[in-house]
Amino acid sequence: MSDDLTVRRLMPGEPPPWELLLLADPSRPRVEAYLAAGRCYVAALAEPLAGAKRAGDAIIGVFVLVATGPRVYELMNIAVAERCQGRGWGKQLVHAAIAEARRLGAESLEVGTGNSSLQQLALYQKCGFRIVGVERDFFKEGYGAEIYENGIRCLDMIRLSLSLT
Ligand code: COA
Repeated sequence: MSDDLTVRRLMPGEPPPWELLLLADPSRPRVEAYLAAGRCYVAALAEPLAGAKRAGDAIIGVFVLVATGPRVYELMNIAVAERCQGRGWGKQLVHAAIAEARRLGAESLEVGTGNSSLQQLALYQKCGFRIVGVERDFFKEGYGAEIYENGIRCLDMIRLSLSLT
């Protein structure tokens, strides 16, 4: 299998990769809102995985950047297809998002994740992000059923930031 990952912006009229977007954020209305406000990028393998039925199957990752303030962007969503996780592509996507935010003139890139998302907290910190705050009870209401990961209830949003200057 090729490890060659190409990242490009979602083309006008191209359907967003909903399956991937909802992996990172189960709230479709929330995703729809930031897709409309932001820039969606997809990552595709140069060679489709074995078993892929059509060209679109080659898309294995997504991320969304939204400008949230003067020279501040937020990584609102990032996901790698479940069958492709744990192979380094998530880290490649975070680095692609950082490079893109820098290209767009951002001085900082922010991201928020759940208190129970231990793998994601590790990933962002390995990529240089520092914890800057906590939004207590962010996930308590409005996400339907209670969310558990790693045996921990997801209640709070941990805010992280990376300085790009
Ligand atoms: N168990 C624990 N940690 C793991 C792991 C596993 N099975 N697989 C990866 N990690 C951690 C490690 O810290 C790893 O760093 P290392 O390579 O230095 O050990 C780091 O994640 C990056 O691994 P990578 O293989 O690049 O990540 P990935 O391709 O699996 O993508 C996500 C990471 C988070 C994008 C992916 O798991 C995903 O799409 N998850 C669902 C959506 C989601 O939660 N998005 C983020 C919302 S905040």
